[in-house]
Amino acid sequence: MTPQAEILQGLLLPQASISPKYFYDAAGSALFEQITLLPEYYPTRVERQIMTTHASDIACRMGAGVTVIEPGAGNCEKARALCELIHPRLFVALDISEDFLHQAVAGLRAALPGVEVSAVVADLTRAITLPVDLPMAQRLVFYPGSSIGNFDPPQALALVTRLRGLLADDGALLIGVDLVKDMAVLHAAYDDAQGVTAAFNLNVLKHVNRVVGSDFDVTQWQHLAFFNPVASRIEMHLQASTATDVHWPGGGRSFAQGERIHTENSYKYQVADFVELLKRAGLSQTQVWTDPDNWFAVILAHP
Ligand code: AVI
Repeated sequence: MTPQAEILQGLLLPQASISPKYFYDAAGSALFEQITLLPEYYPTRVERQIMTTHASDIACRMGAGVTVIEPGAGNCEKARALCELIHPRLFVALDISEDFLHQAVAGLRAALPGVEVSAVVADLTRAITLPVDLPMAQRLVFYPGSSIGNFDPPQALALVTRLRGLLADDGALLIGVDLVKDMAVLHAAYDDAQGVTAAFNLNVLKHVNRVVGSDFDVTQWQHLAFFNPVASRIEMHLQASTATDVHWPGGGRSFAQGERIHTENSYKYQVADFVELLKRAGLSQTQVWTDPDNWFAVILAHP
C-alpha cells in the first residue's frame, strides 16, 4: 500500500488514526531529538545510565569483530556510544527517514574512523532487506530507546521475530524496553512543560498534508497523552478543538469538536512479560539490566 493510501485509510476509519511512522519527517525527527533531551523524558537518560553502568559486561558478552545493525537508527547517537564501547567491525544503520539517516551516518563515519559504516533506508513494518555481502557471523541487532513499545504486542512479537531472523546462532539482540511505573512520571514524559511533545504530535498533520495533499489546520488541533492501564500503554491523540472539515484530492472528512485522531501507542512492559515475548520470538537466553528505580530495562537476548 502506498503511504497516501495508508494515511487515507486511517483517516477514514470511524476512530481515525495516523501511523506513528509518519511522525518522522525531517522536522519530526528533529523534534524527537529535542524530546530525548527533556527533563521529563526519562527513557533516553535512564537507558544511557544502564548501558554505561554495564558497559564492560555487554562488551565482554559480545566479543570482538561484531557487526552492529541498528533498525530505526535516527541520529545514530546511541549507536555511537555503543560502538565506542564494543568497537565493532561494521555498523549498519536502518531508518525510514532518508535525509536524516544520511546526515547522521556521515557524522558517525567522522566520529568512528575505525568502523565501516553503511546506511539502509527501511520501513520496519515491512520485510527488512540487508546488503547481500553483510557478514552473517557475530551480528548484534541493537534496538534501543524502547522503540519496540510503539508496536502493539502481536506486531512487537512479529518485529522481534523478524530481527531474530537477521541473526545466526552466535548473534544477539540488545534491546531497550520501557517499564510500567508511576502514572504521573509517564504523563509528564509524554506531555512536557515546554510543549515539545505537543509540537511533535501536531507536526504529523503537516507531514500528512504534504503526503496526501490535505488541508489540516494545525491550530485547530490539540495534543492529548494519557496512560491506558488496561492496555498498559501511553496513548497519544490529536483532538479537534472545534468542529472542522478536512479536504484532500478526491475526498475529505468532517471532525466534530472533541473528536480524536489516534497517533501513537507506547507500551510499557513488566520485565517478565517482555522476556516471555523474546522467548516466543526464539531468543531464549536473556540477560536483563535495570536502573535502581526499575523504570527501564536493557536486555541482551541470544537465540
Ligand atoms: C520512539 N518512541 C520510543 C518514543 C516513545 O517514547 O514511545 C516516541 C515518543 N512519543 C512521544 N514522545 C516520544
